[in-house]
Amino acid sequence: MKNEMQVSAGILIVGLGGNNGVTLLAGQLANKHGLEWETLTGRVSANWFGCLTQIPSRGVHGGVGYQGRIKGLASASSAAIGGWDIRPTPLGQALYECRVLEPDLVRQVREEMDCTEIMKGFGIRPSSESPSTTLQPMYDIRTWKEKNSVDGHITVIWSASVERPSEAVYSTPDELLDAIHDDSNGDDISPSMLYAAAAALEGCSFVNGGSQNTLSPAMNALFDEAYRRDASGVSPKCALSKFAPYSTNKAYCLGTDYKAGQTKFKTAAVEYLRALGLTPRVIASSNHLGNNDMLNLTTKKTLNAKMRVKSDIFGPWQEENLDHKVSVMYCPYIGDEKRDFVEYTSLGFLGSPHTMVTYTRCMDSILCVPLMVDAAIWCDYFVNNNVSAGDAAKATAYLFKVPEGDAKGVDPGFF
Ligand SMILES: NC(=O)c1ccc[n+]([C@@H]2O[C@H](COP(=O)([O-])OP(=O)(O)OC[C@H]3O[C@@H](n4cnc5c(N)ncnc54)[C@H](O)[C@@H]3O)[C@@H](O)[C@H]2O)c1
Repeated sequence: MKNEMQVSAGILIVGLGGNNGVTLLAGQLANKHGLEWETLTGRVSANWFGCLTQIPSRGVHGGVGYQGRIKGLASASSAAIGGWDIRPTPLGQALYECRVLEPDLVRQVREEMDCTEIMKGFGIRPSSESPSTTLQPMYDIRTWKEKNSVDGHITVIWSASVERPSEAVYSTPDELLDAIHDDSNGDDISPSMLYAAAAALEGCSFVNGGSQNTLSPAMNALFDEAYRRDASGVSPKCALSKFAPYSTNKAYCLGTDYKAGQTKFKTAAVEYLRALGLTPRVIASSNHLGNNDMLNLTTKKTLNAKMRVKSDIFGPWQEENLDHKVSVMYCPYIGDEKRDFVEYTSLGFLGSPHTMVTYTRCMDSILCVPLMVDAAIWCDYFVNNNVSAGDAAKATAYLFKVPEGDAKGVDPGFF
């Protein structure tokens, strides 16, 4: 039995001061304190809409919503939330500046958020700096866990800016750990790889919400608790022993890149077209967004990382001759409120064309935060129920644009 004073699940966000990070924290405080606030269309009270693990099921057949339906699913309202950022801006101030939430809600949580600790994040290390012999984020996780009395599972979520992909290839966890320890590949150990490795070594799950190539077979293997258990005490020279003490607890690594808005709707729309028996031929989509994430995507290397995961979403359906085009436009004025247009052209009976257009507007972080919450709550639940890494990856594949590990190739549809 858990001590009532202890917090069950923990969520550590890399990029806590970003739009998603501060929106998640504000949403959790709003729910925890049962806040209400004014909007142009009326008074709103806190809820977890969009988080399938937090809302009760509704309708005759149950449908989505698992809170109260699955025993042991943690409440996000009582989870501990923390994280790192490379920007020192206090979190309440960052929430105010990002203009995602209603001003009356921001006003109510700003002070408490300003007092929330931001752990100092890790960027690309200049070559003059010493190698990561102690892997600082391991220490951060351990200290944070103790400070916040978290006795449940912790999930570390990459919600920082998209990185340029790493060019290094590591085939085993030993090679990866050696490179992290000795810094032999210099910059090709990207910050996200440091956080992910630290999570594995602390027995925490890691979720790659960005589109860079943090996850690899070598990284996956590091999350396999059998690897960490079996390598214990083998040789003081083995790569793993350089990071002792480490945890042998079960942990998952999931990703890559949240399927939050346009890509999620596109998947559902193509599933619909396929269910009609039509043959999709052209999907032409355009995203307009003015937040910092989109600004970051104006560099070629980060854009390539994003385009890779955005274009790859229908792979397992093997729709031959599908012409899928994606364009992204940075429009600063519209801030976080993403607009997307998609035109679908398919072939119907006797090859006759069927065309439809969708238009969606929503704050980008309002789309994404529920997936971050669900990913962490599912990790906690699956670890507590000793679910295998492969099954956890398959069950959560719907959250990601490019499901990794054993979830590679799963049907991308929702129904
Ligand atoms: N919002 C969505 O709908 C959505 C969907 C899918 C994926 N994502 C991904 O989620 C991530 C976050 O999105 P956002 O809108 O919050 O971005 P953002 O630019 O508002 O926030 C990113 C934060 O990460 C911090 N950061 C950068 N490098 C860091 C590092 N090495 N360590 C710690 N902090 C670091 C930045 O200072 C910033 O505060 C992005 O990678 C984005 O592509 C977002």
